Amino acid sequence: KEVKLWGGRFEESVTDAVEKFTESISFDKALYKHDIMGSRAHASMLAHQGLISESDRDSILRGLDKIERQIEAGEFVWRTDREDVHMNIEATLTELVGEPAKKLHTARSRNDQVLTDFRLWCRDNIDIIVACVKRLQVAMLRLAVKNEGLIVPGYTHLQRAQPVLLQHLLLAYIEQLERDVGRLLDCKVRMNFCPLGACALAGTGLPIDRFMTSDALGFAAPLRNSIDAVSDRDFVLEFLSANSIIATHLSRLGEEWVLWASEEFGFLIPSDSVSTGSSIMPQKKNPDPMELVRGKSARVIGDLVSLLVLCKGLPHAYNRDLQEDKEPVFDSVKTIIGMLEVSAEFAQNITFNQERIQKALPAGHLDATTLADYLVIKGVPFRTSHDIVGRAVAMCVSRNCQLQDLSLSELRSINPVFDEDVYEFLGVENAIKKFRSYGSTGSQCVASQIDYWTARLEID
Ligand code: ARG
Repeated sequence: KEVKLWGGRFEESVTDAVEKFTESISFDKALYKHDIMGSRAHASMLAHQGLISESDRDSILRGLDKIERQIEAGEFVWRTDREDVHMNIEATLTELVGEPAKKLHTARSRNDQVLTDFRLWCRDNIDIIVACVKRLQVAMLRLAVKNEGLIVPGYTHLQRAQPVLLQHLLLAYIEQLERDVGRLLDCKVRMNFCPLGACALAGTGLPIDRFMTSDALGFAAPLRNSIDAVSDRDFVLEFLSANSIIATHLSRLGEEWVLWASEEFGFLIPSDSVSTGSSIMPQKKNPDPMELVRGKSARVIGDLVSLLVLCKGLPHAYNRDLQEDKEPVFDSVKTIIGMLEVSAEFAQNITFNQERIQKALPAGHLDATTLADYLVIKGVPFRTSHDIVGRAVAMCVSRNCQLQDLSLSELRSINPVFDEDVYEFLGVENAIKKFRSYGSTGSQCVASQIDYWTARLEID
């Protein structure tokens, strides 16, 4: 067995069970690129500060280049007995370039090293997720543009409420996704500080320059406090919180589209390319991708919860428990990217069933609130008009008809305030025309929202 990098004081090697249980190489090798990046910056700083010679630095940099090429070619041998990504790379570097490699870990601990890697990794992946969110926004906007003018029932409590333009509903998702982007970018700003040089927890007596490594790695500044630098995980808690909110938004979208694709609603028809069948029921065509979007939101939220529970009982500074922070983050990122991609794909492959929607619109007295507004315009206090329209609806329910089917004399039998012009307020088409407040579902307002997002998302 190879002597461990930390083997000096040890007389026995660890048991196989301990080695297998404590390793992290099986998952943290995902950090290799950022680990090499961090080591390059560290070696250059050490040479600049006179802590290693320039020729040592050059050997280290050459060795790191070679290792990166080996990893990318799939030729690098990852060894479980070398525990994690940091020690695998350092040990291989020593094999490749000899003595100079033994100087690389000067004024560095794996505690600050792993966090440097992890922050760099998260920073890159935030950019990837933001790009995916934007692609979904574009897909939703294109779907909205395709369905201009289509009126659908709007729901509260999942009961028919008021008519809305379908565009208005799709734009609501675009707004939510925009805040999701904002949260990710905010999180990236707070995350972008450099732990390198915090060492184990206390910093170092050696004359390092933390500002130099921080700059070289594109961080805003070094973290101010070395204990904070190696202990804290709020940068990933915040990241996974942002992902969990995205997941929650996508889950609601999934629920809505699954519901709308049901026989009972029938508002939405997914194309075959985004549907799957049943192994037993020949007639089935299921909206599985969006069901799984809803389902996978559980993982993303679970990943956040794992991380919160992991951190909540830990004393400062580094504890080995913290090695458990990687997999939830990797899982959350992979899952949210998949959810965003498949949601965009689904949006590009659905049509709205205008006939079914048209048939559904008359039911549920969607124009009742517009009628109450009509009475307000006639000078009736809103509470009174609410009551009058309530009685008109009751009349419709007993006659199994709609408000626009009531004659003027029937309406006047409830209250004489009604006039011939009332019919301009009834029926969903008329009702939609009456919306005018800022942010409402009125055609003008929705058109200006479409214009806003078309310019903002740069679609043509
Ligand atoms: N694999 C470890 C992790 O991910 C690296 C840091 C180990 N530090 C230590 N003192 N054992 O947390």
